[in-house]
Amino acid sequence: MSAAPTVAQLAVGAPVHSPAGGREWWRSAVIYQVYPRSFADGNGDGIGDLPGVTAHLDHLRSLGVDAVWLSPFYLSPQKDAGYDVADYRQIDPLFGTLEDFEVMLEAAHERGLRVIVDLVPNHTSDQHVWFQEALAAAPGSAARDRYMFRDGKGTGGKVPPNNWQSIFGGPAWTRLAPREDDGPAGPQWYLHMFDSSQPDLNWDNPEVRTEFENVLRFWLDRGVDGFRVDVAHGMVKAPGLPDWAGRVAMVEGTDPAAPEDGSTGAGNNGPMFDQDGVHDIYRAWNRVLAEYDGDRALVAEAWVEPLSRLANYVRPDEMQQAFNFSFLTTPWSAPAMRTVVNASLAAMDDVGAPTTWVLSNHDVVRHASRLGLSEVAAGPLNGIAATDPQPDHVLGLRRARAATLLMLGLPGSAYVYQGEELGLPDHTALPAGVRQDPAFFRTGGAEAGRDGCRVPLPWTADAPGYGFGPTGDTWLPQPEAYGVLAADQQYGVAGSTFEMYREALAARRVEDLGHGALSWVDAFASSPDVIAFQVADVVVVANLGAAPLALPALPAGSEVLVASGELLGADGVLMLPSDTTVWLRA
Ligand code: NOJ
Ligand code: CA
Repeated sequence: MSAAPTVAQLAVGAPVHSPAGGREWWRSAVIYQVYPRSFADGNGDGIGDLPGVTAHLDHLRSLGVDAVWLSPFYLSPQKDAGYDVADYRQIDPLFGTLEDFEVMLEAAHERGLRVIVDLVPNHTSDQHVWFQEALAAAPGSAARDRYMFRDGKGTGGKVPPNNWQSIFGGPAWTRLAPREDDGPAGPQWYLHMFDSSQPDLNWDNPEVRTEFENVLRFWLDRGVDGFRVDVAHGMVKAPGLPDWAGRVAMVEGTDPAAPEDGSTGAGNNGPMFDQDGVHDIYRAWNRVLAEYDGDRALVAEAWVEPLSRLANYVRPDEMQQAFNFSFLTTPWSAPAMRTVVNASLAAMDDVGAPTTWVLSNHDVVRHASRLGLSEVAAGPLNGIAATDPQPDHVLGLRRARAATLLMLGLPGSAYVYQGEELGLPDHTALPAGVRQDPAFFRTGGAEAGRDGCRVPLPWTADAPGYGFGPTGDTWLPQPEAYGVLAADQQYGVAGSTFEMYREALAARRVEDLGHGALSWVDAFASSPDVIAFQVADVVVVANLGAAPLALPALPAGSEVLVASGELLGADGVLMLPSDTTVWLRA
């Protein structure tokens, strides 16, 4: 261990954030994302389902999260893994029945877990009855007006209405088959910002607005605690649908020149995103939620930057939370992390909303893989293929654990994606033949797509399919690395990733970190390698540098609450190794 910096004391500056508002659960909750098709399989068909979720709720209870968000389980042809909804009030038989949902909801509530469901309002499936009606109806009809149908340009309308590209690649317009009553422009085109099987709805149509308010009520009546709103920044398009040359990738980010406002390039812009008119929808939904007792919540999935624009979605009369993708896409660098934390807290404080934090979800490469790739960058987000440079799993897991402890120490609400509590990496060598993400197909394989982060979870090391279900079938193959990471290998094992999450979540609750104020530790306030802050009575120190860091002797009565790796030390000096985070209580 070479010349490590020594710290005289952990004095802190003035708080940069003071928690606002009340004690509603969503201001501080740690919310666990269940991706139903990959969580646990109850009936042995290789696809996770609602009975599988119910069967493993004790895992979540023991982990210590406050709430669960489930990705879509509605009736769907599964062209985009359920983000193509054919009926918003029915459960897809793949996942079970409405009764299975009710059983799961009750079992979750009995365990003190809130439940958030996914709402997909930007588009439906092409199998939705409305789209089928639109196809059968004439141009200009009321049925077509629920979607974004337009005549093409040029002779015979052969040119798409504008030049927009789909987020999954290829053109954002598809042309219908000819009909006898087509006008002079010939068959119409319809807009799909995602796959051609996901036609965009027309949110200028009052029937569309009313229908979704009723869908909210349908699930609120069943007792859900809130909704995660898919593509929340996309429903309203700029008038006239002006041309825009850019192509928005599914996810972007990690702009190396991170500016002071915390932006990383993770914002989707262009005339199809973040239009001011979208906020009327959320004001109306806020009023729908207010019809119900309890603190129900709306969470925006909005890839919007800068954070001050994102904050518009969580003004007091709109939604309750918005995912913080600027944080997710920030490189593993102390100055960049400090910047995004400051900018996030400032932007959300301005509107009285909690900040959220997230490192992984079903759309991005898991942080245990991402952070194993390069020195500083947050790594690629859109999937890793067998032919790409492969992550270093040991480094990735080490950094992922450190990043997680950093995240869980921050005030506000945090998201945990299923499997990250086991330290799972992506499957980074999936054969092309098993891939299912439409982004893989629509980009002709240029993007590996998101299947690698959606691999079925390992529950039991020595069971077929690592205990994912009763038969050993899994809809995607699991990498061998999942064996040692299976849940049963980690329960009760000191130092395992699962136990680290459990300790951190317990300490977070006891110390009330979610509602704490944040102050930076003076000695590291502009350190290139170390990020250190105090929230409530807990000091969080993360060493992102290459050299071990000497921490001061802790005053009597203080203690190490949790650490992401083994701490070294001698003669009363604690050494924090590289890529390690520790929580200390004064
Ligand atoms: C965002 C979802 O998280 C993603 O999985 C989906 O493909 C798109 N929205 C389209 O619904
Ligand atoms: Ca199943």
